Amino acid sequence: MDIDTYYTDHWKHIEEERIARYERMFEWRDGQAALLAPAAIGPGHRVLDFGSGPGFMALAIADMVGESGHVHGVDINARFVADATQRAAGRGHVSFHHVADGRIPLPDGAVDRVLCKNVLEYVPDVGATLAELRRVLAPGGRIHVMDSDWGFVVVEPWGKADVDRYFAAASVAFREPHIGRKAQGLLRRHGFADIEVRIQAFADTAGRSLPVIRNMRSYIDAAIEAAGRTGAAPALSAEEADALLADAERAVDAGTFLFALPQFLVSGNKPSG
Ligand SMILES: C[S@@+](CC[C@H](N)C(=O)[O-])C[C@H]1O[C@@H](n2cnc3c(N)ncnc32)[C@H](O)[C@@H]1O
Repeated sequence: MDIDTYYTDHWKHIEEERIARYERMFEWRDGQAALLAPAAIGPGHRVLDFGSGPGFMALAIADMVGESGHVHGVDINARFVADATQRAAGRGHVSFHHVADGRIPLPDGAVDRVLCKNVLEYVPDVGATLAELRRVLAPGGRIHVMDSDWGFVVVEPWGKADVDRYFAAASVAFREPHIGRKAQGLLRRHGFADIEVRIQAFADTAGRSLPVIRNMRSYIDAAIEAAGRTGAAPALSAEEADALLADAERAVDAGTFLFALPQFLVSGNKPSG
């Protein structure tokens, strides 16, 4: 893959091992319902889940809107769309659509709610994406964005300097690794009003987030490979990255591990006038 467009290409083509890891990472847990609270989703709502991945969150939202509503999941990865469609079999009020060119296959004003969880950091042109999300949202409808900010991650026992090095080395996988802090300004600049920002943090001490750290390790490999092609020194070598990963795994076994990655919850309305 071309490293300059890796941030989007790595979602278009996902190898089996990563599909399995993502299914574990994106599994929807009841405890995550608080992430959706600012979206104020209710029965009968028509909802777009932009970047729906394997479809777990869209299926949870389908329970919230009931059969009088509808959930549309949209994703750039065709395999995710096919798997999510299978998971939704027999549920007529959920449908999944593949997008290849950024154009959402819905008419103007088709939905009451737009949700976008951990996606805006990957899109090639965030302004164009927000304009498209605004187009499909009905006047008076609400957008709710949930995003990480990779400048706010804590991994103990690494300490800040190694956390910064590890995630900077993996940043080839993101178009905007600091999207969390930028989301409210972006929504405001792209025509949304009544913006609200909340930050929600979970502390993982049991190692549930190791798949996230291992996933970053695969992104670091892509950066190392790209550096190798040009003869440049990588920001972090494979040995250094493996040693950090092993430290984290040992800390889980020792009961001293801590991972925290706050989620920025940013909501706004499309003005009705
Ligand atoms: C980190 S995953 C999040 C999946 C899901 N929203 C969740 O939180 O469980 C990012 C998702 O965004 C999708 N994605 C990335 N770029 C996209 C784009 N330009 N248009 C639509 N989907 C995109 C990926 O294929 C992937 O499913």
